[in-house]
Amino acid sequence: MADLSVKIGSVDFKNPIFTASGTFGYGTEVSDLTDISALGAIITKSITLHSREGNPPPRIVETTGGMINSIGLANIGVDQFIAEMLPAYKFFETAVIVNIAGSTVEEYCQVLKIIDAVSSNIAGYEINISCPNVKEGGMAFGVSADTTARLTERLRKLTERLIILKLSPNVTDITVIGKAAQEAGADAVSAINTLVGMSINHLSRESNIFTTYGGLSGPAIKPIALACVHKLASSLEIPVLGIGGITAIPDVVEFTLAGATAIQIGTANFRDPDIGRKIVFDLVEYCKQDKIESFDSLIGQVRVFQ
Ligand SMILES: Cc1cc2nc3c(=O)[nH]c(=O)nc-3n(C[C@H](O)[C@H](O)[C@H](O)COP(=O)(O)O)c2cc1C
Repeated sequence: MADLSVKIGSVDFKNPIFTASGTFGYGTEVSDLTDISALGAIITKSITLHSREGNPPPRIVETTGGMINSIGLANIGVDQFIAEMLPAYKFFETAVIVNIAGSTVEEYCQVLKIIDAVSSNIAGYEINISCPNVKEGGMAFGVSADTTARLTERLRKLTERLIILKLSPNVTDITVIGKAAQEAGADAVSAINTLVGMSINHLSRESNIFTTYGGLSGPAIKPIALACVHKLASSLEIPVLGIGGITAIPDVVEFTLAGATAIQIGTANFRDPDIGRKIVFDLVEYCKQDKIESFDSLIGQVRVFQ
């Protein structure tokens, strides 16, 4: 069998197929619907200091080739997360990455500190600086290189575990933000979070989303995500995790060729929570057919014309 393992920072993952934040719950809800141990890692939904109800409905709508969501970081808050989820993760035979969000630098730091103090069985943290659906924090951090650097620097001092900055595509040049994260000590970056989008019902003449704008995800965003991953991988030394419209093996191969060390499956989980396990299975077959010994040999190998 081909070697599917990948290394991010000092952590070895058994394969490059991860689930994306907010699309796989805390992992515990779906453990009856798939074999989580097949996955390279799961990434939790964003955890904040206090529990959040999120935005009022309607907060999800299907669009051409994707969906728009405006969940607004609904989550149980860090204390309940520690009490209920961390014990369950002891039985997961896959790496767990905790996604963190906050409205201020202090809040991000507090959440990370609280989890880091009690948890011995998580691989690291993905820092959500790219949520387009909240009034404070979220994307406001990820559109500024200075704020990204300041936040990363503070978090870096708090933990030895992985720190992965999750970047927004809603910027002029994503590599500027990626470089700021790298220089401030991030182990990796994830790209991309959702794009700001809008959906209107032409019959009722109403917005389909309570907050008017939401985050567009799914296959519709894949070409944008590929370009972001390629730009980041071409200009950074740290690994890039590719996200955006991945539903099957061709997508995984394309993101890897563009430069992704690992990939995350998001919206596709809503159609089939078992999709990640199936893709890992298909990846083994793909490598066998193409006589690939180490899947990571494909990273960044796309041939471009200039
Ligand atoms: C319903 C929904 C909820 C999400 N919640 C989060 C979240 O809590 N934190 C986060 O960093 N990203 C969140 N995301 C963004 C995804 O992790 C991913 O970056 C994005 O959807 C693009 O990948 P996809 O096209 O495969 O869905 C969410 C996406 C969706 C569709």
